[in-house]
Amino acid sequence: MNHYHPLMVVFHWVLAFMVIMGLIMGNSVLSETANSDPQKLFYLKMHMSAGLLILVLMIIRLFIRVFTSRPPSADIGNKTLNKLGTATHYLFYLVIILMAGSGLAIANMAGLPEIVFGASGAPLPESFDMYPPRIAHGILGMVLLFLVVGHLSAFVYHQFIRKDALFSRMWFGKGS
Ligand code: HEM
Ligand code: HEM
Repeated sequence: MNHYHPLMVVFHWVLAFMVIMGLIMGNSVLSETANSDPQKLFYLKMHMSAGLLILVLMIIRLFIRVFTSRPPSADIGNKTLNKLGTATHYLFYLVIILMAGSGLAIANMAGLPEIVFGASGAPLPESFDMYPPRIAHGILGMVLLFLVVGHLSAFVYHQFIRKDALFSRMWFGKGS
């Protein structure tokens, strides 16, 4: 067993792309556009749809993870770093699900489903800052970015310094 299941590989790369895009677009375009700007409704529609899709795919991925076998955890000869690697992987699931949950909570408190998808014509609130889940969403976004940077650093370390071909575990190949 030296590869993740092909379905896990597909879900990993689709979600890696979606989560990184969600973080970039959320931090730049979405939160930088004032709620009074007419374009905001479109950005919210995109962000909320993509965020909900991430939530659904992440839950399906969790099931696939439980029901498929995977390679033994990577061992780099340091107990603490090995544990950190495993913890990061679990934290990804937790933080992404909380991220989508807090996003949904902002949306419900601000009546976004009717405004954004129901085209009710009601104005957006001046800002989302008065809703506590908005603060959680921002903090979780920073935690998620931190996890991605840590994960990418580990990838670079494995691939180019240890040269242990860890990447191939998250790619298609024989023996998966
Ligand atoms: C371009 C960026 C990325 C690269 C190069 C990359 C690479 C990898 C590699 C090589 C593994 C296998 C590690 C192992 O076998 O121990 C892995 C696992 C994993 N990656 Fe990434 N990854 C990237 C982005 C992401 C992102 C954005 C997420 C968050 C959604 C993510 C979540 C995970 C998780 C949760 C695992 C563990 C798989 C599991 O057991 O569920 N990765 N990644
Ligand atoms: C896991 C997927 C998600 C990611 C990675 C993500 C990412 C982000 C980021 C980075 C921001 C800007 C944070 C800041 O400026 O402090 C943001 C804002 C926001 N997100 Fe998400 N989000 C996700 C899911 C959702 C969902 C599912 C919803 C609603 C259904 C949602 C609704 C919002 C709203 C309303 C804002 C505030 C925009 C503003 O203040 O102008 N998000 N998101």
